[in-house]
Amino acid sequence: MMNRLTGKTALITGGTTGIGFATAQLFLEEGARVIVVGQNAERVAHAGKALGNGAVAVRADVSSSGDMTELAERVKEEFGRLDILFANAGIAKPMPFSDVDETNISDQIAVNLKGVIYTIQSMLPLLNNPSSVVLTSTTIIEQGMAGMSIYAATKAAVRSLARTLSAELAQRGIRVNSISPGLIETPIFSKLGMPAEAVEAWAGELLGTVPAGRFGQAYEVARAVLFMASDDSSYMLGENLMFDGGMATI
Ligand SMILES: NC(=O)c1ccc[n+]([C@@H]2O[C@H](COP(=O)([O-])OP(=O)(O)OC[C@H]3O[C@@H](n4cnc5c(N)ncnc54)[C@H](OP(=O)(O)O)[C@@H]3O)[C@@H](O)[C@H]2O)c1
Repeated sequence: MMNRLTGKTALITGGTTGIGFATAQLFLEEGARVIVVGQNAERVAHAGKALGNGAVAVRADVSSSGDMTELAERVKEEFGRLDILFANAGIAKPMPFSDVDETNISDQIAVNLKGVIYTIQSMLPLLNNPSSVVLTSTTIIEQGMAGMSIYAATKAAVRSLARTLSAELAQRGIRVNSISPGLIETPIFSKLGMPAEAVEAWAGELLGTVPAGRFGQAYEVARAVLFMASDDSSYMLGENLMFDGGMATI
């Protein structure tokens, strides 16, 4: 057990699987108290059990301002204040641009953009001075990937929020940064709404574009998020950390 987050309280949206869950595990190891949020009740219950002592798992939909307001009330009652907010919940609905319809647009904007806005707004009164807000963007805001028009646009907006909110909140001691993972092996690929074989074929193609020659693992992203969430990054504001095996940069 390390102690880089001893005495700190962290809220992680999308903390029930994948990157958020791995981050919750690492934050607990580092001594934090952790609240994880997901929208699927079964996965919320499973995550709560798997994380064990020191963690609370809550069902809430980040795209509902009502849910997020209720969540903030509960966090305030049970935990008081927050030192770390990881606004990480997100969905991807790949689709050729010519087929993109109202549902594809509004679903991804609702979770990936409005969800991040509601998450930060609702938790703002609870954020300590100092505190760190980390947002999850993606490497494909820095390169074009076919089929990802709306997803990438929502994530570019998220990256932009890290800059503007840092400008607005710096005087309250709140730092806002984003992380841009590349291809990370998580359950997101089974939630795309695509047949498993199509996902596998696509993943194989994409792998050829990664200089590191492999998918990243959620625990690797978690270690970068720990840096951004902790005082180790105390002089970093409005930044976007590329974490993609060289995919967009090399
Ligand atoms: N994996 C990658 O290659 C990759 C690359 C770049 C960026 N990202 C981003 O990384 C973040 C985490 O994704 P992941 O790869 O770890 O996938 P994941 O395992 O599917 O995790 C997504 C998390 O978000 C939650 N979530 C989704 N919709 C929600 C909603 N409306 N309200 C509350 N929670 C919601 C999910 O909960 P439920 O299961 O209950 O829906 C889950 O806990 C996402 O923002 C994703 O866009 C992923």
